[in-house]
Amino acid sequence: MRRVGHGQTRDATTVEAVGNRLRSLAVGAGVASAATSFGYMFPELQQDEANVLKPERATVEALRTLGAAMTDVPEVEPVGGAKGPGDSATPAIYTYFGQFLDHDITFDETSAGMPSLASLDLAPLSSLSGLRNSRTLRLDLDSVYEGSAPRDDADPRKMKIGPVERLNSSNPPLARPPGKSDANDLPRQGRSEDPSTDRAALIGDPRNDENLIVSQLHLAFLKAHNSLVDEIGGDFDAVRSEMRRRYQRIVLTDFLAKICDPAVLSDVMTNGPRHWRIESGSDVFMPVEFAAAAYRFGHSMIRTLYDYNLNFSPTDLGTLFTFTALSGQLGENIGLPPQQTDTLPENWVIEWERFVHAPDGGGTPQMAREIDARLTDFTFKLQNTFGDLEGANDPDPNVVHVAPRLAVRNLLRGYLMRLPTGQAVANQLGEPVLSGEALVAALPPVEALRAAARPFVDRTPLWFYVLAEAGDPNGAKGKHLGRVGSRLVAEVLWNLVRHSEDSVLADGASSHVERYTLSELIALAARRDNAVSGSIIPWPVIRVGHRNHPVRTLQHLLRAGGHGITVDGVFGPATEAAVTAFQTSKGLSVDGIVGPQTWAALIITVRQGSTGDAVRGVQEEFQFRNQSGDPSNGLQVDGIFGPQTESAVRGFQQALSLAVPSMAVDGIVGPVTWRALVSGMLAG
Ligand code: HEM
Repeated sequence: MRRVGHGQTRDATTVEAVGNRLRSLAVGAGVASAATSFGYMFPELQQDEANVLKPERATVEALRTLGAAMTDVPEVEPVGGAKGPGDSATPAIYTYFGQFLDHDITFDETSAGMPSLASLDLAPLSSLSGLRNSRTLRLDLDSVYEGSAPRDDADPRKMKIGPVERLNSSNPPLARPPGKSDANDLPRQGRSEDPSTDRAALIGDPRNDENLIVSQLHLAFLKAHNSLVDEIGGDFDAVRSEMRRRYQRIVLTDFLAKICDPAVLSDVMTNGPRHWRIESGSDVFMPVEFAAAAYRFGHSMIRTLYDYNLNFSPTDLGTLFTFTALSGQLGENIGLPPQQTDTLPENWVIEWERFVHAPDGGGTPQMAREIDARLTDFTFKLQNTFGDLEGANDPDPNVVHVAPRLAVRNLLRGYLMRLPTGQAVANQLGEPVLSGEALVAALPPVEALRAAARPFVDRTPLWFYVLAEAGDPNGAKGKHLGRVGSRLVAEVLWNLVRHSEDSVLADGASSHVERYTLSELIALAARRDNAVSGSIIPWPVIRVGHRNHPVRTLQHLLRAGGHGITVDGVFGPATEAAVTAFQTSKGLSVDGIVGPQTWAALIITVRQGSTGDAVRGVQEEFQFRNQSGDPSNGLQVDGIFGPQTESAVRGFQQALSLAVPSMAVDGIVGPVTWRALVSGMLAG
């Protein structure tokens, strides 16, 4: 089969195809006007020429030099989670969550305009009205649910998941990572001679099949949705609403906490945005200060080498582009087996524990790069559809100086959009301003970089300013964004969440948003794998705010441990206090969160003849699995472990033993059966 016309990065053909697809998806989804607009967050800054870069050829040349000087030090191989020089303390998954979020809200279709961007006579736009954003400005997971995203044939409340291609080997590099089921690829179309449909992922935003990490993250959202159907029941709309809320909670309470200055974030979450607040959903637009500058901070977090899974550690990001259909025909024709594959080969399923901690904080994932004015090697060698350096074959020799270098493109894109300088924005926000020697001192001590930055130290391109501020050794030290970058990113995302469907900020207040983490979402997604791949699902991690299964069971177990609380299914302050007291009494770490250690200490082995609250907990689990809607059809929650309870337990163990051969069928509820029950196995 010929190599299809998809782009490894966004060449003009790809962008046009993707843009057309997005437009048709948006129309298909009932969005009246697919394109949303770009605009300036601070239009007043446009009035004064001193607030923008000088519009002259010398600026263009100096921006090219600056971008080319932003190369990072070579990375250390990320084996076993070891932290190398230049690595941050933020697990690598957050880079790709950032990209996933970017794809949910921004897509500038003109970003393929390479010949004009590469021209030395590039001139700033006099207006942004010609730019179109092909995404809805809501954090509503339309990239997951809309357009061609199919539902599961057997259960339309669930999303369809694609099968991996089996290689039938247990030896690296062809082995399937342990504990993974067949269902571990995006759903795809079949083979086709038409490059725009050949094995294309059936998802709401085709860009999420651009590199294998973001593609597997998209898959995790599909799997988490399906687990949630099993966990909370309800129809498709109810589960989608809950997924959207969890996604927004991850953005506000986990992602922003990792990438923003804590004081700035706390202010935004407590008092709301101070500088950019949109009151009506119809007035929302995509600020270019965010899309073309501040939110591109994520480019500095990209690694070139990834500890991917047991087969490929490390592998380079270029290869991870190859194993998607949008960028590389799922790895065909690169000399690795299999040579023919209709879906993702099973040896390329990701092992998330290498990218993110477990919900209880365990594990040693590899880290993203620090946020500073350096980008990793890979981003200076962007390739086109055919594996050549972007622009290498372009008759205009300027193009190859710009197209393969992400840093150069970002700087020129900002110039083209007439972005205000970092200093102008810092002044506008009332934040300390970095300029002159202080700006130079904030940069990594690399002479070529500092020299290239000198023409811009008092009028600094906004994207570069945000990175310099983040890397400042007297400030954020590369750990997170500085105050200006944090303000821009947190305030824009706050507004977009506020005006989203199913918004957790619908009432405009942030203080009540409960924490939810990406680790928890990944664990939720993994439940489906565990349920079919022969292992018992890990203990769930629940904390204050949780209202669903297995809170009632937890409350019975707390009562069994002598903590007299009401069984109401709501993990409120009283339950949290009881958990804290229980943890103290057992010498556990006291955090009020119920994770593996606390569950293991709470459970009590029960069998026929046992009585009391722990037995009620078991019976509650069978009520949870009673799908009839009539509690009288399920086990009575009477605290007496009689023949009916034993028969229910044996039936559960029997059913589970089909998937988990080591499961004993003995009618006794010990640690393994307890874990299978409270983790929700066989509940769907
Ligand atoms: C493998 C990782 C990534 C690659 C190869 C990549 C590459 C690109 C490229 C080529 C562009 C267009 C540049 C231009 O000509 O203007 C772009 C745009 C952009 N990127 Fe990335 N990117 C990656 C990850 C990220 C991450 C992690 C973030 C943020 C956390 C991010 C945020 C953005 C934003 C906001 C835009 C502008 C989008 C638009 O409005 O169309 N990217 N990226």
